[in-house]
Amino acid sequence: MDVTAIIMAAGEGTRMKSNHAKVSHKILGKPMICWVTDAALAAGVSRVVVVIGSHADEVRALLDTTYTGDDASRIECVEQTERLGTAHAVRVALEATGIDEGPVVVLNGDLPLIQADTIRTFAATVADGSHAAAVLTMTPPDPFGYGRIELDESGSIARIIEQKDCTPEQAATLLECNAGCYAFDGALLAAHIGDVTNDNAQGEYYLPDMLEILKAAGHANTIYHCEDYRDGLGVNSRAQLAELTAIARDRINARLMAEGVTFIDPAQAWIGPDATIGRDTVVWPQTHLIGHSTVGEDCQLGPNTRLTDTRVGDGCSLDETVAIEAVVDNGVTCGPRCYLRPGTHLLDGAHVGTHVEIKKSTIGEGSKVPHLSYIGDTQMGAGVNIGAGSITCNYDGKNKHATTIGDRTFIGSDTMMVAPVNIGSDAITGAGGTITKDVPDGALALERCEQRIIEGYTERRRARL
Ligand code: UD1
Ligand code: CA
Repeated sequence: MDVTAIIMAAGEGTRMKSNHAKVSHKILGKPMICWVTDAALAAGVSRVVVVIGSHADEVRALLDTTYTGDDASRIECVEQTERLGTAHAVRVALEATGIDEGPVVVLNGDLPLIQADTIRTFAATVADGSHAAAVLTMTPPDPFGYGRIELDESGSIARIIEQKDCTPEQAATLLECNAGCYAFDGALLAAHIGDVTNDNAQGEYYLPDMLEILKAAGHANTIYHCEDYRDGLGVNSRAQLAELTAIARDRINARLMAEGVTFIDPAQAWIGPDATIGRDTVVWPQTHLIGHSTVGEDCQLGPNTRLTDTRVGDGCSLDETVAIEAVVDNGVTCGPRCYLRPGTHLLDGAHVGTHVEIKKSTIGEGSKVPHLSYIGDTQMGAGVNIGAGSITCNYDGKNKHATTIGDRTFIGSDTMMVAPVNIGSDAITGAGGTITKDVPDGALALERCEQRIIEGYTERRRARL
């Protein structure tokens, strides 16, 4: 059966004290809205309706750039221009899309750790017709701020009371909390969403009121209690953002350790949910893997390494390395302190050393760029050695130009390769040369003033002063 997910992401997020949409804040490098959207997509829903409002353009752009292909075709945005509460957000979504049947799962946009399995089980609960609604509940150590579940004698929900509407006694005794994940029978949801009123402490239309309304109309509901309360925690503040980041980090690192990855200190490595690491790789402290980064087996990562959307093969060592959209093959060593920018491709056995920056360049098999270099827009062959301090001068102030270097070529220290320039195979450039003309295969290129020796100079100078 086709399941629709509605993700509510229009709220102001006032408690974040931010100039950005709350759901755009990241957990392990991934915006909260994408955690929730990914969970819905992974659960197999056919349609994801994201309700946007506050910072709508920012959230829409985030979704547009993150999702492509089939995923993108399942996601649509609906704008809630006036934010009158969560029930209003759902009403706007239903009216804009015309959805009035099938299971509808409604998710808070600030519920990043929700699991795909939970959403799936949840949708099934209403799909079989036994219940009109289901609510995910939990008992967190600190229930403050959550809507509290009041159960009836039969164990189903009598009503949900928001923290601000609770009497002190209710706040102290009703410890089962609403996680902000609901499943509804779409037809009943559409028929009754207009019955919600805003007669409460905050003057808002509360979606949790739907439970009491549906019950009054004779429709059964059920709770679905999270075994692990952490799946249901929401993010309203920066403190909660940090708390959930730590939970997500610990879960991911525990999974990776179970899969055979060593962490020197799992509390000091931030591996994103979409990153992968192969067995026997060692993760040193202060390592970050962001986006769709993949690392093979038997690697050493860090300390102080940050990889964004970067692919690393087996047996590599990346010490104090920052890499963005780079590809690193097998047996490559990098750092300490190197910067691999987009379009970098390091072939097997390459070495990129200390204070080296590479951009949009291929470094061939076994080639070495060990010290203090900038290599940009360059195709380099195999077995090349780049002397310390050598750079490609790829930018003339207006355009970028290419450099090519053949196989086994030796670039002397402090060589300036002024692009566009082609340096052949088995060539040598003398130290300190500014190479502006192509160098043929097997040639030596020298560009150097003759050295003068002025004997006894120091003594004469001292006598003058
Ligand atoms: C909500 C629930 C509460 C639950 C908690 C779980 C309501 C009234 N209360 O409280 O029972 O325990 O989540 O974390 O629903 N939003 C809109 N449009 C609006 C208002 C909100 O899209 O007009 C979105 C927000 O962006 C957010 C979500 O709905 O992603 C929840 O809103 P929020 O204000 O965070 O509700 P809570 O006070 O946390
Ligand atoms: Ca919230």
